[in-house]
Amino acid sequence: MRMKLTLMVLLMVINLVVVMSSEDTSFIYNGFHSANLTIDGISSITPNGLLRLTNDTKLGKGHAFYPNPILLTNTSSFSTTFVFAIQSEFPNYAGHGIAFLMSPTKALPFALSTQYLGLFNETNNGDPTNQIFAVELDTIQSTDFSDINDNHVGIDINDLKSANSTPAGYYYRDDGIGFRFQNLSLISGLPMQVWVDYDGENKQITVTLALINVIKPETPLLTLSQDLSLILSNPIYVGFSSSTGSVFLTSHYVLGWSFKVNGVAQNLVISQLPELPRLGRKKQSLILPIGLPLFSLCFIVVVSLVVVYFIMRKRKFSEVLEDWERDYGPHRFKYKDLYFATKGFREKELLGSGGFGTVYKGTMPTSKIEIAVKRVSHESRQGMREFVAEIVSIGRLRHRNIVPLLGYCRRKRELLLVYDFMPNGSLDKYLHNQPSVTLNWRQRFHIIKGVASGLCYLHEEWEQVVVHRDIKASNILLDSELNGRIGDFGLARLYDHGSDPETTRVVGTLGYLAPEQTRTGRATTMSDVFAFGAFMLEVVCGRRPIQQEEGINDVILVDWVYGCFTRGEIVAAKDENLELGIEYKEEEVELVLKLGLLCSNSEPSRRPSMRQVVQYLKLDLPLPDLSPLCLSSSGLTFGHPHHHFPDSAMSFPSMNWSVSQYSDAESFLSGGR
Ligand SMILES: *[C@@H]1O[C@H](CO)[C@@H](O)[C@H](O)[C@H]1NC(C)=O
Ligand SMILES: *[C@@H]1O[C@H](CO)[C@@H](O)[C@H](O)[C@H]1NC(C)=O
Ligand SMILES: *[C@@H]1O[C@H](CO)[C@@H](O)[C@H](O)[C@H]1NC(C)=O
Ligand SMILES: *[C@@H]1O[C@H](CO)[C@@H](O)[C@H](O)[C@H]1NC(C)=O
Ligand SMILES: *[C@@H]1O[C@H](CO)[C@@H](O)[C@H](O)[C@H]1NC(C)=O
Repeated sequence: MRMKLTLMVLLMVINLVVVMSSEDTSFIYNGFHSANLTIDGISSITPNGLLRLTNDTKLGKGHAFYPNPILLTNTSSFSTTFVFAIQSEFPNYAGHGIAFLMSPTKALPFALSTQYLGLFNETNNGDPTNQIFAVELDTIQSTDFSDINDNHVGIDINDLKSANSTPAGYYYRDDGIGFRFQNLSLISGLPMQVWVDYDGENKQITVTLALINVIKPETPLLTLSQDLSLILSNPIYVGFSSSTGSVFLTSHYVLGWSFKVNGVAQNLVISQLPELPRLGRKKQSLILPIGLPLFSLCFIVVVSLVVVYFIMRKRKFSEVLEDWERDYGPHRFKYKDLYFATKGFREKELLGSGGFGTVYKGTMPTSKIEIAVKRVSHESRQGMREFVAEIVSIGRLRHRNIVPLLGYCRRKRELLLVYDFMPNGSLDKYLHNQPSVTLNWRQRFHIIKGVASGLCYLHEEWEQVVVHRDIKASNILLDSELNGRIGDFGLARLYDHGSDPETTRVVGTLGYLAPEQTRTGRATTMSDVFAFGAFMLEVVCGRRPIQQEEGINDVILVDWVYGCFTRGEIVAAKDENLELGIEYKEEEVELVLKLGLLCSNSEPSRRPSMRQVVQYLKLDLPLPDLSPLCLSSSGLTFGHPHHHFPDSAMSFPSMNWSVSQYSDAESFLSGGR
């Protein structure tokens, strides 16, 4: 009796303990801000309260458990609901799934990632001693586990080979027809709600799935009759497991969770759930880390190209401009304009080249004026100031027999002189490139008279005395009306300045150089007259002042004409091409030849001045009698200048000769009269 009582009391106590210990667990998390979950692996709670089971780590797994164990009797029921979302790098591919689980332990250290979902490993999969119940939301079809597809919900009892499974979705009532199935894509990234209910009386598990904000569908998605008390044993831990694969980066989130033993889990407050990171953020983030640097790179490349272009352009068109040149404003040309005028100094525009540089034809871009641009290279800046001053002075010369100099431009090693373009080119080619074109007597006489008047203007009629220093046929240009015009001023002067002062050279052209000029190095108006004499003979005879003929000795034109003169047949010296045209006048030919001899006198004082020459040519003055006696007595040597030169000094091609060792050449522009 006493014993019976004791037993009863004991039973009562035991009952009490059981009742107390099975005090029904219930919890709810609308977001996991303050949740004391036990998490491991790559799981984390994000700052805004999301339970992030996996992040971008490959082949990772993560778990999260309610920290305390729950106790179930073999008739207990339970109910749970949670909201999850699976966000994938690529909308159509994802790495593995998420599982709700009940397990005897919070630590699953041997479980594998990928298709094992962090639940089991190769050896313990299917082992009843696992004592694990799980609901898997699987996004990959694993044939190992007989998965039905790559988007299914399954109930797993100790085994990833589901006890029952079905495609993800839900049934809804369609009035008149019954229930309809709505597919859901687990990897859509959309938050979805899952309800797992276990009826301890009827031993039945039901799983229901729906989009968030959809009321729990009446018809569950998945049902399984199973006595869980045969599977699970106390203490029991509830939580989630998830894993990633090796290819597609997937994030598994749980937004909220509610659980209750022996009752219906409290409804989640959807509005309180934390927000998911915006889907597609990864695509934007691709634009930022790849697009932005790419764009910046392109931008930098484009900017540098533009800068380089402008630097190159600036360098290409750079000029030398010094303060003192500002006074010469109108005479100063822009290199850029000349560059475009001559189409970049291209070969096709080349008019000719000689000892002093190359000449290009051009058309000024705006005014359409035709110009000739002479490029002269100069190494030193020494004397440049004086030279440019002279150029500008010459620019003021205005005479119908002088080629107008329009201006100049200076670059680093280059001087560019801009002249009016002379359409008929240099006289030279009409005299020596026969028989292509030739000039008749009237034309030649007109040219001679014109040049004489131009030279007279330089010597006597302008405000300063200008000595040309290089009168010769190739420096006489013909304009459209075949007027002879004197060109190429001052270049010899440039060379004087440009060279070392100690080795100042006399520059001129052999055959036109007066004998005293080679001796003293001084160029005077009289030496210009000498050169003009040689020029006249050249025009009438159509021969160069010194001509090499068939291997024999050079023919000195003056000597030869003089020879004809002494034989009394001076007219025989004339160019055969003149012949007896209508325009031909023998007395004029004779006059010019005689005047040529007169100017070629080796004694400067015996040469006529240019003014006299003009008067003779106009027949205003009778030509003085130049009897052979008179000439011979004056020692008409006519000069064989090359006898005075060492061979080494004859460095210029064709008819251009430079003579060194003469000091202090006469100033090109000597002071006012
Ligand atoms: C993933 O989460 C784990 C744990 O929070 C962390 O150690 C790891 O650095 C994370 N990896 C990435 C790629 O975010
Ligand atoms: C969180 O749970 C652990 C046991 O899992 C416990 O030791 C700890 O005190 C809890 N912390 C809080 C803040 O509840
Ligand atoms: C479970 O309950 C039944 C009665 O409903 C009982 O017969 C059985 O022994 C219990 N099993 C365990 C493991 O407690
Ligand atoms: C699998 O997991 C069990 C524990 O659950 C462990 O004893 C076993 O060693 C694991 N097997 C492998 C191959 O990791
Ligand atoms: C659901 O998806 C399956 C294939 O995954 C398809 O065969 C079926 O027609 C879909 N049902 C609906 C209602 O969209």
